[in-house]
Amino acid sequence: ETLDASGMHVLPGAIDVHVHFRDPGYSHKEDFGSGTAAAAFGGVTTVFDMPNTIPTVANAEVLTAKHKLASEKAYVDYGLYAVLGEESLTHIDELVEAGVIGFKCYMGNTFGRIPSPSTGAMLELFELVAPTGKRISLHAETNSIMERRESRLRAAGRTEPLAHLASRPAVVAVEAVARAAILAEWTGARIHVLHISSAAELRPLAEAKARGVEITGETCPHYLLLSEKDYEKSGGIVRVNPPVREAPNREPLWNALIDGTIDMVATDHAPHTPEEKTRNDIWTVDCGFPGVETQMPLMLTEINRGRATIRDYVRWSAENPAKQFGLYPRKGTLTVGSDADIAIVDMNRRWSIDDAKIQSKSKISPWQGWSCTALPIHTIVRGRFVMKNRVLNEQARGTGRSVHTIQKMPAPAPKNTDATMAAVTGGKG
Ligand code: DOR
Ligand code: ZN
Ligand code: ZN
Repeated sequence: ETLDASGMHVLPGAIDVHVHFRDPGYSHKEDFGSGTAAAAFGGVTTVFDMPNTIPTVANAEVLTAKHKLASEKAYVDYGLYAVLGEESLTHIDELVEAGVIGFKCYMGNTFGRIPSPSTGAMLELFELVAPTGKRISLHAETNSIMERRESRLRAAGRTEPLAHLASRPAVVAVEAVARAAILAEWTGARIHVLHISSAAELRPLAEAKARGVEITGETCPHYLLLSEKDYEKSGGIVRVNPPVREAPNREPLWNALIDGTIDMVATDHAPHTPEEKTRNDIWTVDCGFPGVETQMPLMLTEINRGRATIRDYVRWSAENPAKQFGLYPRKGTLTVGSDADIAIVDMNRRWSIDDAKIQSKSKISPWQGWSCTALPIHTIVRGRFVMKNRVLNEQARGTGRSVHTIQKMPAPAPKNTDATMAAVTGGKG
């Protein structure tokens, strides 16, 4: 059986460090089979799944059960997050032992209503995670600011989609990024800022990097490509946390990716059903939409337009995620021989996104009708085809493996003493 790859681009498979595959608990929205099939169609060979499933991943027992479930259904490789909060406080070491890929800290409420830890609890949690070396990924929105704004807007009777944007102004995220960076600086914990949505968040991120904090950041295609105009076009469908913002935020996000302030592109693939996305009361519309399948086509279409180079894209989609989560060079590069994860992409293919045809169970997104000029044709995980000529290899179901076994995250040198901080600041102030 021969394979025609003439005129195609061979890229390392993408590593999406931020997906919600909803399994177990919300499998009407997605499950590990449908989610990883969507990944395979999107040229994505490794995904990190978020812990807001039922029950919340907060102890080793739940993590182990989820590992088993994932291993039976997955088409691509995966890592599993555990939640970082009061509910996992006494379970950190057992979670690391049981093979967690990293910790997710919900500083702001979102789907699943996971309680946000107080700043005091966060300090304690960061101190516990720091010596394990694992990265803490942050939903960086300050709950108390956001909830007060939302209740004020609700009370004022604001029901249009843009009210959602107004309830979560960028300061909600900026304050959270700055606060988390300070806690990371004092504890030596490694942190990752999820879904950077605004230009304003770039300042605390860049400042923390300049101070030597072990901090990375991601943004998503919707923050790079959509704007407030899309609320008019798509209504509640575009509702996502943090919100899609005003158009002038986009250029600085692109520039931050190009200059390395933002390290990677992830999707926050957050599937919901059409009913859940189109409720009349905008405040009850579920937030998020599928993205794991369309990230590569959308981003490579921008590369084709000259926005950045393919080399840049590989850094954002594969190399940096692998390096920053301890998977490099087993993942994130083509130079590992027969064990490589590969996306073979036609960079000269005109097609339009049709939500009805995506693999995800959630057939509704703001990308409906978007024109693309690139399409993954074959996807290979550890040398095996999982998607070939745009057809899923059904036999690859259950061949996806957890990547925690290859993850290497040596603990950084501890910095968490007042004496070391005095040395860092030179006793100023
Ligand atoms: O819009 C969102 N949806 N943002 C998140 O952070 C979580 C996600 C979800 O799980 O639905
Ligand atoms: Zn989030
Ligand atoms: Zn998310």
